[in-house]
Amino acid sequence: MSQFAKPSGFFGKILAYGMARGHRDFYKNAARILDLQKNDKFLELGFGSGIFIKRYASHVSKISGIDYAEAMVKLASEINRDLVESGKAEFRYGDVTSLPWDDNKFTAAVAIETFFFWPEPEKSLKEILRVLKPGGRLAIEMAYNNDDGLDHTKHIKQMGLQLRSGEEMKELLAQCGYSNISINYYQGLKMPIKGYIVPKGMIIKGFK
Ligand SMILES: C[S@@+](CC[C@H](N)C(=O)[O-])C[C@H]1O[C@@H](n2cnc3c(N)ncnc32)[C@H](O)[C@@H]1O
Repeated sequence: MSQFAKPSGFFGKILAYGMARGHRDFYKNAARILDLQKNDKFLELGFGSGIFIKRYASHVSKISGIDYAEAMVKLASEINRDLVESGKAEFRYGDVTSLPWDDNKFTAAVAIETFFFWPEPEKSLKEILRVLKPGGRLAIEMAYNNDDGLDHTKHIKQMGLQLRSGEEMKELLAQCGYSNISINYYQGLKMPIKGYIVPKGMIIKGFK
């Protein structure tokens, strides 16, 4: 399994900082679509470094996260130490296929650059729906996807990504019980000469 799918050890920690830097546009766009409010009870799936939470979620009322890389649980807890010590945030070790929370707990959830690694997407989406309160929202961000016009053969081979189009994601979320599903696109990661490396990043939003 690639370090992107499950960062571990010292290199995984360095990579997580690198991803947080490289994912700045992804975070910004996910935060715009999610529009977190003070009274939100927020869940992040596959939080990695936890830097999205530090930058865009520290104002909400409660924060929970789950990641199946032990190194990331440690790193995110360190990076958000104030939030953890005050009891506002918890970073749990575990897999998105089985969430350690009661039904109807969260008002908002996000998954940034992680959904395409999940081995059981349907089961995971149903688990997220279970822990969302009625009316709660989920945003799934994927910089690479099957609508972006790029050749992903190399990425699929190297990282084992499962890429989908917006319409396929819409169908999947609907099958899993989500409603009011919308697809949003953005451009990200602008490089000198090359231009945008992510020409059509995708964020799917659905409601319970
Ligand atoms: C590419 S990193 C993205 C991290 C972070 N969201 C960001 O954008 O900086 C993918 C993260 O998802 C986590 N992850 C992947 N599959 C998972 C699963 N099935 N359950 C829990 N975490 C998972 C990995 O451990 C890793 O931290």
